[in-house]
Amino acid sequence: MSASYHYTFNIGFKETSVSIEQDVPSIETVKTAAVLRGTGSSAKPAALVVCDTNTASLAKAVIGKTDTPLCVLETGEKAKTLGSVTTIILAARNAGLGRDGLIVAVGGGVLTDTAGFAASCYMRGCALAFVSTTLLGMADAAIGGKTGVDFDGVKNLAGAFYPAQAVFMPLVALRTVPSREIKSGFAEVLKTAILGGYEHEDLFDGALPGVGDIDGVDGYEAFAPLLARTVEYKGRLVEEDPEERSGKRALLNLGHTFGHALESAAGLGALTHGEAVAWGIARACELGVRLGVTPEPRAQRIAALLERFGYETRNPHPAITDVVRYQEAMQADKKKRSGRLVFVVPTGESAVCVDADEKQAE
Ligand SMILES: NC(=O)c1ccc[n+]([C@@H]2O[C@H](COP(=O)([O-])OP(=O)(O)OC[C@H]3O[C@@H](n4cnc5c(N)ncnc54)[C@H](O)[C@@H]3O)[C@@H](O)[C@H]2O)c1
Repeated sequence: MSASYHYTFNIGFKETSVSIEQDVPSIETVKTAAVLRGTGSSAKPAALVVCDTNTASLAKAVIGKTDTPLCVLETGEKAKTLGSVTTIILAARNAGLGRDGLIVAVGGGVLTDTAGFAASCYMRGCALAFVSTTLLGMADAAIGGKTGVDFDGVKNLAGAFYPAQAVFMPLVALRTVPSREIKSGFAEVLKTAILGGYEHEDLFDGALPGVGDIDGVDGYEAFAPLLARTVEYKGRLVEEDPEERSGKRALLNLGHTFGHALESAAGLGALTHGEAVAWGIARACELGVRLGVTPEPRAQRIAALLERFGYETRNPHPAITDVVRYQEAMQADKKKRSGRLVFVVPTGESAVCVDADEKQAE
């Protein structure tokens, strides 16, 4: 039996519908879902589908026999640029999209962030839908309305909060995602489970696409309930704090301060983002225990979970060859936050933001 999950989230002034299903949706299905949540008009809008060279076959499956225009970008973080936004805007104009037009991004987090930002600018904002095709995209990037591109060497320097009206997560797309990328995305699944306090539940038994034993489409079906739980938790958290103002949404940064510093010290590309985040979660647990915020048994349970899925938790990480660079990266993070070093650390059932400087002063 095919797994299928549907959610609706109210993110700021917009509603986002999310569908986790086996197959890619047709362009008609995407249009219907986006229009229902968007303008309220019953007419089907003109659409532009945007993909990268790795997701072109999935995008063509969405388009089917229709003559919907396709805009193909380069792959990877290097394509997350204002240049790609320009390419999308030009393609939208050439396709004759009006203000009621629809941009459909088919791809991973780079693609949805970039096309989402283009949609936020096109004619002051057109309709937007995502067909998310990586695990990181499904578990994190496609939900919550953060769009943007890198600029002048700074990640996500230009961007906007602009949630998609409709998000589709076709499990079949995960079959072709390289296992290293799956393992990277799976760290965000674990992170969300720790925030939600459900990391000990049996959802994790056998749910290891590309990370453990299960391979092929049946494995992804077995994984669907865990993905659904991840999406629901993130969606509800974002509903409470759509523009990251109250501190609720900031909890999603669990493991990221240590993780970013590790990524930086290990050298670009040496580790995946998820590997660094998983290691960062282990460090956040250590800090939490030291500060008396994380109960020791929970820290041990989290470390065991990370290790069970093959993530490195030992300190120092074997990839840190340059300790000074690691410390400098921590300080750079501090500068970004008005001089304060803020960490998210696990509590008994979820996590909390702590200001390390304040805690030390106490
Ligand atoms: N907006 C947010 O809230 C948010 C959250 C987390 C991460 N992000 C962003 O997401 C980006 C990373 O996302 P990502 O890891 O999905 O990167 P990505 O989009 O670059 O995808 C990774 C690689 O997999 C390929 N790919 C995509 N789908 C595929 C498929 N089905 N089969 C085979 N290959 C496929 C891509 O072409 C790319 O080469 C970063 O830029 C990050 O900043 C955004």
